Amino acid sequence: MPRVTIAGDEILYAQHKGDLKGGRDLILIHGAGGSHLHWPIGLRRLEGATVYAPDLPGNGRSEGTGHQTISAYRDFVLAFMDALDLEKPTLMGHSMGGAVAQDFALTYPHRLDGLILVGTGARLRVAPAILDGIHQDFEGAVRLICNYAYAPDAPAQLKRLGVQRMAETRPDVLYGNFLACDIFDVIDRLGEITAPTLIICGTADRLTPPKYSTFLRDRIPGAQLVLIEGGGHMVALEQPQAVIQAVTRFLQR
Ligand code: COA
Repeated sequence: MPRVTIAGDEILYAQHKGDLKGGRDLILIHGAGGSHLHWPIGLRRLEGATVYAPDLPGNGRSEGTGHQTISAYRDFVLAFMDALDLEKPTLMGHSMGGAVAQDFALTYPHRLDGLILVGTGARLRVAPAILDGIHQDFEGAVRLICNYAYAPDAPAQLKRLGVQRMAETRPDVLYGNFLACDIFDVIDRLGEITAPTLIICGTADRLTPPKYSTFLRDRIPGAQLVLIEGGGHMVALEQPQAVIQAVTRFLQR
């Protein structure tokens, strides 16, 4: 995997170079306890686009201590773009990554071609059972999160892999991620977003329910919403083809 040093930390990222002339740059920003592997392979290798999927600092295989605010991850994304010479990509964020993408769209609108928000919301309050649980019973908290993260009928193997991968996240990093979500709130600022926006949510998402996404659709000017029937919070892994189709249409607009 390629790597780049940002603020002294070695950051690993997956990269797929699109062969279409004029194809768009797409950066995928994973959620709490995730890594580039929270994105399905078909999206990481999306036809026609040049796709970058970093492991955020402290997460996955990237160095660093992680951050406890969305704005710190937002500025990491800006530094990542500068380091890779990406002037105006589309940002696609899942859950916490969606908060990072919204904050980026509000802070650096001139550096954004489009915004794709998957299973996220303008405010992401976190259940105390998750926040407290990470310190009190890490493995139990990971099982709890993953139990809610996948739709009830998602394949057992996918859920098992989800638990295994999230358990590899350092507890302090996972805690910092959820803390960052818990204090995130741009509910009153959504009308300021100017980037063309696509919102994707599974109808069975229990961590960021569809009402959070309809709220985003109603407040972000011109935003479109794609609801994926039966999808849980991990809708991109659960139903990759539906998500890839929605993203492809949006990028071809
Ligand atoms: N978009 C639209 N509406 C939202 C919203 C969002 N992003 N976030 C909250 N709201 C709504 C809620 O639905 C609720 O509406 P209601 O009064 O009509 O039911 C209201 O705003 C207040 O909700 P909230 O801020 O979440 O406070 P709360 O005290 O009701 O609940 C929790 C707090 C933590 C119990 C609750 O958010 C929860 O159950 N979260 C569990 C899911 C979780 O941990 N997700 C992790 C996300 S990273």
